Amino acid sequence: MNAFRSIEWLDAGIVRMLDQRKLPHETIYNDYVSHTEVAQAIKDMVIRGAPAIGAAAAYGIALTTHHTGCETRDALISELDTAMEILGASRPTAVNLFWAIDRMKKRITDPSLDSVSALKEAVLTEAHSIAKEDVEINKSIGRNALSLIPDKATIIHHCNTGSLATVDYGTALGVIRTAHEQGKNVFALLDETRPRLQGGRLSAYELKEQGVPFKVIVDGASGHFMRTLGVDLCVVGTDRVAANGDVANKIGTYNLAVVAHENNVPFYVAAPTTTIDMATKHGDEIEIEERPPSEITHVRECQITPDGIEVGNPAFDVTPAKYITAIITEKGVVYPPFEESLAKLMR
Ligand code: MRU
Repeated sequence: MNAFRSIEWLDAGIVRMLDQRKLPHETIYNDYVSHTEVAQAIKDMVIRGAPAIGAAAAYGIALTTHHTGCETRDALISELDTAMEILGASRPTAVNLFWAIDRMKKRITDPSLDSVSALKEAVLTEAHSIAKEDVEINKSIGRNALSLIPDKATIIHHCNTGSLATVDYGTALGVIRTAHEQGKNVFALLDETRPRLQGGRLSAYELKEQGVPFKVIVDGASGHFMRTLGVDLCVVGTDRVAANGDVANKIGTYNLAVVAHENNVPFYVAAPTTTIDMATKHGDEIEIEERPPSEITHVRECQITPDGIEVGNPAFDVTPAKYITAIITEKGVVYPPFEESLAKLMR
């Protein structure tokens, strides 16, 4: 059990989020009462990580029903359409955002919900279900990965995919956590993950709390450690898995996968099936979010580059399926050829 919650619903109609921009040195919770505030919090990365973003969108929609002044079902549905549009424009790459909005939309348009009060109750219940299911799914991913982790293993992890990136427990970091909890002798090498340092700040914070042995390395050191130390496997999360097995994940994942391939290190992707997007045929169809230059030119308030320079800041990259050993989901582990195994899994 963690001492923190990435996101939670309070009965007064408040969504409370742990401000991940401030971690690990400050533990500050922000309260939100509208979908516009939640959309902004997602954009600003108060909350981040694909599954957590999905849950935040669902609760953002629930805030709209909770605080609505609409007196008719039709008026409320039109207000909710606007809310879903605003939330859907917050970050483009994580498919969980769109998955959660679609799921909420299906519930909202259920014709049997014929009053404002019925809609209010159903929307909140659905948001709670999304949040609750996420935790169970993550635990199953951890269990399904166990047979892939040697009893003694050095594991490279990129970005943050733990309790902070989900409602609780985590995907790829959850795999490491489960192995540790099950008595395996695991040691994690955490990529610090420039530019926002999700590895150095957030994954280190989580593994320290959980007592999992680790050290933080710079992103460019992974090849060195594979060649000299002997790394048993890499495990990462993802923001979107395409139907052919290409995955979008935090910038630097592609480099890591190529170096793992070169060193014969198995490269695993841990993902809930809510991150698998069968409508996206391959990775080049995935929109890659471009984030503000200040994330590169500055570390917190401190400018580290000369004035007036150009910066490229894609938040994600695409790792081609050919570099991926297996994708670990709550429904089981799938192997190449992913066109076939993913289609079967998602049927
Ligand atoms: O930009 P972020 O911090 O939202 O990126 C997060 C990642 O890339 C994670 O690896 C991914 O969302 C999976 S989280 C379980």
